[in-house]
Amino acid sequence: MNQSCGNEPFQILVRSDLVKIAPSLTLVLKDKVERMRKQGKNVVSFTVGEPDFDTPTAIKQAGIRAIEQNFTRYTSGLGILELREAIVQKLKQENGLDYGIPNIIVSSGGKQAISSAIYALINPGDEVLIPTPYWLSYPAMVILAGGTYKFLETKPEDNYRLTPELLEKNIGPKTKLLLLNYPSNPTGAVYHREHLAALVPIIKKHKLFVISDEIYEKLIYDNLKFVSLSEFSEIKRQIILINGVSKSFAMTGWRIGYAAADPQIIDAMDKVQSHLTGNSCSISQKAAAYALQANLKDPSDLKKMQARFEQRRNLGYELIHQIPGLSCERPQGAFYLFPKADAFYRKTTPSGKIILNSVDLATYLLEECLVSVVPGADFGNDANFRISFATSEAEIEEGMKRIKEGLLKLK
Ligand SMILES: Cc1ncc(COP(=O)(O)O)c(C=O)c1O
Repeated sequence: MNQSCGNEPFQILVRSDLVKIAPSLTLVLKDKVERMRKQGKNVVSFTVGEPDFDTPTAIKQAGIRAIEQNFTRYTSGLGILELREAIVQKLKQENGLDYGIPNIIVSSGGKQAISSAIYALINPGDEVLIPTPYWLSYPAMVILAGGTYKFLETKPEDNYRLTPELLEKNIGPKTKLLLLNYPSNPTGAVYHREHLAALVPIIKKHKLFVISDEIYEKLIYDNLKFVSLSEFSEIKRQIILINGVSKSFAMTGWRIGYAAADPQIIDAMDKVQSHLTGNSCSISQKAAAYALQANLKDPSDLKKMQARFEQRRNLGYELIHQIPGLSCERPQGAFYLFPKADAFYRKTTPSGKIILNSVDLATYLLEECLVSVVPGADFGNDANFRISFATSEAEIEEGMKRIKEGLLKLK
């Protein structure tokens, strides 16, 4: 853009590789939904990526106590000892993982933990493998760190899980890191022990690092027990386990995540974070320490929240199957459904527009049917769209009705 600065035209030159980073369609849509609601339109939103529950009262009180006790100054960049100890205990008791304090770093959300790990590991030109569909921030983080990435296209018939064959055939001389997320945003796929075990020999043989994004650990259904890739001792030093309190304790705004990894990786992440942001919010760290400790003593609140999400998963999955033309795998975790909708591409809307892709379909559903979904293109998979069921049962029923009616109107 040319701007006038005195008499000289002044050109704003932002970093050139930012053109490779697509703006988030999810956020664009969120803004659009808000604008439509302000105009008085009754839009059902299936776009949110956070629990609709409030942060539990006792956790909020721990935050209030921290403020009242003036716990409002800089802390160690690695995180306060009380929180790092709570994380060590959590990993021991809940996951059977033996980590010590030097293995733990606290970050401003799981998002920062992932990006710090990428910054800590990737040299310019190193390649990162990203299975598709992916969480939309992954490719952007790799670009910002100066790396390159390769997408590995998982299949609905494999329940969108990365298979050992797909992994092995894509490893090249520059490959350094794999980004794995389970339960998955956007597919809800969960890796059972045997799925992870099949990947382990390849990870070991090729000395791959893996960022294991376990942020949806607590949102897992069908009586499944969550298994972490770090449980496989032969590759444990290659794994950077990522988790946090955002999704599990309805604490998205508090911005606390963490990583557990080899101390050399943690030290490198500390270097990155200490210069980019410094410590995570002191008050939030106290509240997160409380949340983790309280849950170890009594996990009933969290179990109740999980049960509510499972009911909603069941309802959403049942309703989506009543919509002719959509096919959807059964999510076993997270709070998303990811139906395949390309049977509707090349059809025409009642207002005469032709649907060519997932963005057109999401735009039609929003503008003409008043229900917002996220186009699969945001996750590297243009055949699908994402529905978040982190909303009330009544909204799920109403939104699904609108999708069904809207799709039936396409000719
Ligand atoms: C797959 C995945 N990883 C990480 C995150 C980041 O979580 P946080 O809010 O703790 O930064 C999200 C949030 O949407 C996510 O969906």
